[in-house]
Amino acid sequence: MKILKTVKEMREQIKEWRGKGLSIGLVPTMGYLHEGHASLIDASKKDNDRTVVSVFVNPMQFGPSEDLESYPRDLRHDAKIAEEHHADIIFNPEPEEMYSEGFSSFVDMTVLTEELCGLSRPVHFRGVCTVVTKLFNIVQPDRAYFGKKDAQQLAVIKHMVSDLNMNIEIIGCPIVREADGLAKSSRNTYLNKDERKAALILSQSLNHGIKLIQNGETDCSVIINAVKEKIQTEPLAKIDYVKIVDAANMQQISVIDRPALCAVAVYIGKTRLIDNFFTEDIRNGGAV
Ligand code: PAF
Repeated sequence: MKILKTVKEMREQIKEWRGKGLSIGLVPTMGYLHEGHASLIDASKKDNDRTVVSVFVNPMQFGPSEDLESYPRDLRHDAKIAEEHHADIIFNPEPEEMYSEGFSSFVDMTVLTEELCGLSRPVHFRGVCTVVTKLFNIVQPDRAYFGKKDAQQLAVIKHMVSDLNMNIEIIGCPIVREADGLAKSSRNTYLNKDERKAALILSQSLNHGIKLIQNGETDCSVIINAVKEKIQTEPLAKIDYVKIVDAANMQQISVIDRPALCAVAVYIGKTRLIDNFFTEDIRNGGAV
């Protein structure tokens, strides 16, 4: 497996593969890879002849008071995981390679970014859409793989690809969890022992919501209040949001009468964690 640092090297590699008629999968990441990322690499390996994993902590998607500086970085660890899962290339550009002096072009989106993380993190999706567009232009993949933990991000990218006629298939992969239910996240490394225990309240509260829906509840305010009450039993937890939105346009709904997403963002100490479930995924009695 090779680690490429420049757009030029990446393009040369892509040209060589395309010359041989090979298909290409892209797994965009910010590094500090875990089993969630590994599952995306595995999915790409199954569908494509070659798999590129991008590792780039994208400054543009962090707000001024967010964790850009402290975001965990360990390229050796990332290379080990990517290699174990038989990725072909890690694309690991420096910020100056992606954003040269005078950079002033952006990809932005309305509607789907108005709620959830878009509301709490106003610059986030402009940064995500811009960097993902750049990665798509550089790697020119046939398919790209994103985790369902970032459910709004997945919906935004799918919409962007459709709106802008990008010829790329976007594949959403299931959330990967620890044995006790905590969704895998690079940010879990911020948690101390007590916070790690407290973080279970995210999946536990969502499971509470799922049970209500399975028992026939469709009133979103009833479900949201029940999930909130459960989270509030954990002293280390502070709710950013608990919302139910239309899975297609990410707008709030009051009754579950269509495919919906129930999403939570919760601070555990200083660490902001997200988790969710899609109502379509629980039809067969599943829990998160
Ligand atoms: O999900 C992430 O890790 C990032 O938002 C992404 C898609 C790699 C863009 O920086």
